Amino acid sequence: MEKTLVLLKPDTLQRSLVGPIISRLEQRGLTIIGLKLLQMDNALASKHYSAHEDKPFFRPLVEFITSGPIVAIALQGKDCVAVVRNTMGSTNPVEANLGTIRGDFGIDIGRNLIHGSDSVESAQTELGIFFDKSELLEEYKDISSWVIES
Ligand code: RTP
Ligand code: MG
Repeated sequence: MEKTLVLLKPDTLQRSLVGPIISRLEQRGLTIIGLKLLQMDNALASKHYSAHEDKPFFRPLVEFITSGPIVAIALQGKDCVAVVRNTMGSTNPVEANLGTIRGDFGIDIGRNLIHGSDSVESAQTELGIFFDKSELLEEYKDISSWVIES
C-alpha cells in the first residue's frame, strides 16, 4: 500500500494544532505507520528541500523549518500521496479551499503548517530521510476493509 511523509511544521507545534491536524489525516482513513518529534538542523532541512535550493524563498524556508520542533509522520493508505495533498490544500493558505488544513488554519504561505510529499517518488526519498525501515510498522489495522475495498 502507498506511503507518504508528512511534516507538521514548527508553527503547528507552536500553535498547539498537532492534535487537530493529525485527526484530519486519521479521519480521512490514513494509517500512521511512523511518528517522531524532532528539530531539523540546516543540513537535514537543506537535504529535504534540495529541490528548492535555487528559489528566493529557500533561505527563509530553511530558517523557518529549523526554528523549532516538528513532528514527522509516515502515513499509509490507498493513493495516500494525493489524499494527503488534497487534505492539506494549496501551498498558499489564502488560495486553499475551506475544509482543507491550510484553508482552515493558515493565512500566510511561509506559515502553512504542514508538508506532504508531492509524488510517490519523493515520498520514498523523503521517508528515507526521516525514518529507518525498522521504525515503520505497516498494515497493522484490523478495520482496513471498512475503509478500503481492496
Ligand atoms: P511543502 O513542500 O512544504 O509540502 O509545500 P508545497 O509542496 O505545497 O510547496 P512547495 O512548492 O514545495 O514549497 C515549499 C514551501 O516553501 C514555501 N514557499 N514560499 N514565498 C513563496 O513564493 C513560497 N513558495 C513556496 C512554502 O512554505 C512551501 O510550503
Ligand atoms: Mg513541496
